[in-house]
Amino acid sequence: MSKRFPGVDAVTDVSLDVFAGEVHVLAGENGAGKSTLMKILAQVDAPTSGGIEIDGVPVVHRGPAHARRLGVSMVHQEFALAPDLTVAENLFLGHEPGRLGWIRRRVERARARRLLRRVGLDVRETRTVRTLSTAQQQRVEIAKALAVDTGLLVLDEPTASLTEQESAELFTVLRSLTATGTAVCYISHRLDEIFTIGDRVTVLRDGSVVTTRHVGELDEAALVRSMVGRDVENLYPRVFREPGPVRLRVRGLERAEAVRGVDLSVRAGEILGLAGLIGAGRTELARAVFGAEPATAGRLTLDGRDLRVRSPREAMAAGIGYLTEDRKGDGLALQLGVDVNITLGAPPTRGGLIDLRAERDEAEHYRDRLGIRTPRVNSPVRLLSGGNQQKVVLARVLRAGAGVLFVDEPGRGMDVAAKSEMFRQLDELASEGRAIVLISSYLPELMNMCDRVLVLRAGRVAGELDRAEFSERRLVALATGAGGGDE
Ligand SMILES: Nc1ncnc2c1ncn2[C@@H]1O[C@H](COP(=O)(O)OP(=O)(O)OP(=O)(O)O)[C@@H](O)[C@H]1O
Ligand SMILES: [Mg+2]
Repeated sequence: MSKRFPGVDAVTDVSLDVFAGEVHVLAGENGAGKSTLMKILAQVDAPTSGGIEIDGVPVVHRGPAHARRLGVSMVHQEFALAPDLTVAENLFLGHEPGRLGWIRRRVERARARRLLRRVGLDVRETRTVRTLSTAQQQRVEIAKALAVDTGLLVLDEPTASLTEQESAELFTVLRSLTATGTAVCYISHRLDEIFTIGDRVTVLRDGSVVTTRHVGELDEAALVRSMVGRDVENLYPRVFREPGPVRLRVRGLERAEAVRGVDLSVRAGEILGLAGLIGAGRTELARAVFGAEPATAGRLTLDGRDLRVRSPREAMAAGIGYLTEDRKGDGLALQLGVDVNITLGAPPTRGGLIDLRAERDEAEHYRDRLGIRTPRVNSPVRLLSGGNQQKVVLARVLRAGAGVLFVDEPGRGMDVAAKSEMFRQLDELASEGRAIVLISSYLPELMNMCDRVLVLRAGRVAGELDRAEFSERRLVALATGAGGGDE
């Protein structure tokens, strides 16, 4: 199968078998063609050449509804639920069991409850989707995929915004599906989970298959090598130095229910980690400091001086930066070019006009440094792969050069090589005396990159660990409130 977009060979002559009952992982660098390949299976896109057979029968491409009738469902990298409809309404959107009034609706609700049980989701089917957490919404997506008779379930980076615990629960659901013969195609950048959940792995590079192997035949280093085409020496290139004076101090910060009296300080040269479950208040804390959602109480000082922040504009003017976790929501202008997105808000000027040439030069600099894969430096961001979009947001934040920087799940969706480069840049920023707050749900990231980690639970600081005290068990214990956290 091949797929050409204008100027890009996204998928080139790929052959792939997927067996009943297996979890088939697709791995590869950002822009390697993983999502494109899977979208063709789900008939969201048609191939330029080649085709699919299901149980030996050639498939005619007619679109996603047709794919679902043939038993192929896909949960996309970005969810597509209707936020203001109920869970049950979302599950059967487009194929309601019938429109014969309340009896049908009762049948529908009973079916919804069965589906929710199947994916281990304990919420009422009458809940509005907007009120659910990301992890819960994702379960709804999977339940929706299972609402038709599914032989092949495709998941595109399903754990990118889940905590370890939530990922483990997702794997249990997937295992129960494969046990009954469902095939799962699973796109992931997380090496650890590829080995946990995968039976076989196909590695793509530049749109072509590098290899398909049983995961047992590979180790992490070999997998990385086949993805990147070289060894990645150090995934977490951090150099620890003695931190300088406190740059940002937060006292008694409150934000409605989400943040309840949080104190924190972060020093020049320091990377402070924020750990916690989804909903623990990490993002809300960052948004409150950044002025995106005003705090209801609390005091901030920056470099020893009182600081009042009522809007992101004021925060940026004061030298506080924020790499948001939601690149689609408030991160990117999807219709605009990569270059414009990188300089958004503060383009280089000459004589009062935007200096287009300087803008392009700067964009090319970040494109090369972060390996942003784009046909042209002014191509619209919406044409980029998920991980490459994330790199554009990162480039903008790096360029803004804040003295205090909050980065919220910065590695989300990035491949291992890109992540390693990003962490190198964060370390470089720290070495220049900036203070960095790293929010991450991936504990190895926190443990390898941070001087200290603050664990939030239900909006409060549940504990703080120094680098010497780090252990996954302690961090998890503090985050969940289970046990005393001692080894
Ligand atoms: N609609 C489109 N128009 C033009 N180019 C596209 C389109 N969709 C994808 N591409 C390009 O095809 C290539 C493969 O993209 P794809 O989304 O499949 O990558 P991916 O392996 O899923 O990457 P990631 O890990 O970042 O999600 C990229 O170079 C991307 O820019
Ligand atoms: Mg993708």
